[in-house]
Amino acid sequence: MEKSLVLIKPDGVQRGLIGEIISRFENRGLRLIAAKFMLVPLELAKAHYAVHQGKPFYEPLIKFITSSPVMAMVWTGPDAIAAIRQTVGKTRGTEAAPGTIRHDFALQARLNLIHASDSVENGEAEIALWFKPEELVEWKRCTEDWMYE
Ligand code: CMP
Repeated sequence: MEKSLVLIKPDGVQRGLIGEIISRFENRGLRLIAAKFMLVPLELAKAHYAVHQGKPFYEPLIKFITSSPVMAMVWTGPDAIAAIRQTVGKTRGTEAAPGTIRHDFALQARLNLIHASDSVENGEAEIALWFKPEELVEWKRCTEDWMYE
């Protein structure tokens, strides 16, 4: 099954939205398999956002993501990448569809509450960056027999 790294960013943590965001993924039927509440070391922030280096928003983004704790998680499920990105919504809150997390709680691009992997390959690479293999918990939700075909 696909896996996605999900980060509740400093704005989501500071605004008290950890529970709300986790509930949305739980309600969707996805399975949480790893979580840690942490301050992001500068080197990890740079590695995670390496693809954006040189862009005008890169330096403020690094400052933002290292400024206050994040909730780093791994979620899995059938088509987890697409399902999670659909629940999260487009980067900018004003472009995200109604009902998505970013539409419902955000307005702009940087302070967009959450990061989710954009492909299976990037998900695997990002999970390897943020978590040790032994930090991923193998288990099954009792709801899965009634949700996963
Ligand atoms: P994320 O999904 O974590 O991936 C890259 C991040 O860069 C993005 O969410 C935003 O937080 C930030 N970002 C993307 N585009 C912009 C932008 N135009 N201005 C400021 N920040 C941006």
